[in-house]
Amino acid sequence: MKRYFSLLTALFITTFAIADNGMWLPSQISMRIADMQSKGLKLSAEDIYSLNQPSLKDAVVLFNGGCSGELISDEGLLITNYHCGHSLIQAHSSVGHDYLKDGFWAMTRDQELPNKRIFVRFLVYMDDVTDIVLSGYKSGMSEAQRDSIIEVNGKPVIEAAEKEGVGYSARIAPLYYGNQYFIWVYQTFTDVRLVGAPPAAVGKFGGDTDNWMWPRHTGDFSLFRIYADKNNNPAPYSADNVPYTPKKHFKMSLKERREGDFTFVYGYPGTTQEYIYSEKVKYISEASDPHKRNLRTLRLDVQKKYMSADPAVRIKYSAKNASVANSWKKWLGEMNGIRKMKTYEEKKAFESQFAEWAANRPEYSWIIPRFELLYPQWEKYAFATDYYNESIRANEIISLANSIRMNIMQKKSIDVINAYIDDFYKNYYLPIDKECFILLLRQYRQYIPDAYRPAYFSDMIIHYGTMQAWVDAIYEKSALTNVDAAKELVKRAVEAGDDYAAVLLSDPACEFEYRFKTHYDENISNVYDYFTEQIDQVYRYYMKGQMEMCQEKEFFPDANLTLRVAYGNIQGYSPADGIYYKPVSTLEGIMQKDNPDIFDYNIPQELRDIYAAKDYGRYAVNGTVPVCFIATNHTTGGNSGSPVLDGDGNLIGINFDRVWEGTMSDIVFDPDVCRNISLDMRYVLFYIDRLSGARQLLNEIETVE
Ligand code: ARG
Ligand code: GLU
Repeated sequence: MKRYFSLLTALFITTFAIADNGMWLPSQISMRIADMQSKGLKLSAEDIYSLNQPSLKDAVVLFNGGCSGELISDEGLLITNYHCGHSLIQAHSSVGHDYLKDGFWAMTRDQELPNKRIFVRFLVYMDDVTDIVLSGYKSGMSEAQRDSIIEVNGKPVIEAAEKEGVGYSARIAPLYYGNQYFIWVYQTFTDVRLVGAPPAAVGKFGGDTDNWMWPRHTGDFSLFRIYADKNNNPAPYSADNVPYTPKKHFKMSLKERREGDFTFVYGYPGTTQEYIYSEKVKYISEASDPHKRNLRTLRLDVQKKYMSADPAVRIKYSAKNASVANSWKKWLGEMNGIRKMKTYEEKKAFESQFAEWAANRPEYSWIIPRFELLYPQWEKYAFATDYYNESIRANEIISLANSIRMNIMQKKSIDVINAYIDDFYKNYYLPIDKECFILLLRQYRQYIPDAYRPAYFSDMIIHYGTMQAWVDAIYEKSALTNVDAAKELVKRAVEAGDDYAAVLLSDPACEFEYRFKTHYDENISNVYDYFTEQIDQVYRYYMKGQMEMCQEKEFFPDANLTLRVAYGNIQGYSPADGIYYKPVSTLEGIMQKDNPDIFDYNIPQELRDIYAAKDYGRYAVNGTVPVCFIATNHTTGGNSGSPVLDGDGNLIGINFDRVWEGTMSDIVFDPDVCRNISLDMRYVLFYIDRLSGARQLLNEIETVE
């Protein structure tokens, strides 16, 4: 029996060792550099991340809190994905000037469009502060004591870092479930203007049909420019601001590339869960993903119906629809991938080895039994939480009611709240919201047991006789169904001072929000948080134990929206027996998919004309233009817009997606099929040159051939 287990361990370890997976910390890249160089990197660790000289990290940004982006000129020009700029492009659009449909290009700097809510963040430096924040902590102390020690120790470190420069902010966060702590110090710019974006027919080509899939032909890019004050420091928008001069920017490579070529991705992956316990894997793939998905299917069907009937509704719901559809589709890929990889069974097998290894190690022997005890309890509340978020909170006027209540509670001014309300109604269409609401509530009634629902829910159904009658009454009587009535309600609530709640509660949508939220806070989220905390503490020891047990394995810290380096090579894959996917897609594929009758595949006429003339100039490769490519880099959500670099550190692409068969890589990475999808810079240059009309941009973009 023993031999069998150690054999399994060996197997487990080797599969990990050869895999290309990992999202590594830039400040510790010297530990990976030899491996990277052996695979084709020509740069040094200092070129990638340095405190003493400009390095590649100075050209990478966190874009608007959820995407990555990079500088591509010495005049603050920034490229990210189209889908990362989508809601901003939408905000500048109306049926009169529909930049989603027609694209937008600033022909001069004056025409670049300022954005209301936008920020980009440069990493100034990162540092291991484990010893500092844990100083004074002794084993045997309670978790509460530990947390407060970390907070007290961390505060002066953060404050000192934030004084080091203009627009600096700092954050301390755990890695490896609290076995290590790092500080990240950022500089944030908020005057960031839209420079250009292709029409959705290019930037979103293939839409949600092609999303998460290969082969792909999406021109998923948009351009922005960072503005700074006269001293090159961050400043709020001002007409006097000037283009920011970055410490470093990327050159774009037009060089030929081949399958097998080294690439690396430098960006901000959001979340991965590579080291979780089997039960969590099961929960994700068998409960959470399928249920959340079903709820979104209902919403998407309703959105689609109204969006295809009315162009104004299509604009309003364009970004919302894309974001609902995005996770909806990914969850299916993730469930399938986990099943196919037998991740639950693999984890179980590993856990029994772990239990055996831990048996005479008191520091670890309690871990597995503790997980077994905690997870079943946690799951009930996790499910109620997931369901609450995807059904109750997914309703738009209910979420508006919540924002209004929070804003009034925080004593925000009427002007601020009204501006928020205006923004809300700009993208609101009542028939969609109402139709979704009733569908979601029916699911909620079916899947959430009585004990986890507020009594208010059944009371109201009894009171109104049917769910439909109840929902009709809410939409008939609530002030939140139109902008003026909503503002009027807010005015009355604010004027009521401390009695604002009574005013809000007289509105049925606000009452609904309040009843559900308080029930959720008092009966679900507190218990959920309690179990989550308990579980996270176990993970701290489990993580440490895994690292101690598998010494040969190299553990990267799970992604946490901090800057990381992933590396691999350009590589096709075989999704199924008898099929091989090539690593590169071209303009030919766009033309094959082109179909004027299908919204997602109707390309601009100019592109058809250029294709007919085959006049591609310097962007031609074998008589066509490369569009997208795939590689073995380990990426996740947040990596969108990340620079994809060659061995010399030149920009060959921007990351925007993963392939269908590899969408489970946040939990388990399969080197055979996990691929990141990137937009080829040659298509971007071709587009700017031939189709944008904004050729002046090519004067500031540097290329290498
Ligand atoms: N799947 C990509 C990502 O996760 C692209 C999403 C945007 N595109 C879309 N069709 N919804 O962000
Ligand atoms: N499209 C994703 C994003 O917005 C990247 C794809 C992925 O999840 O890997 O970050």
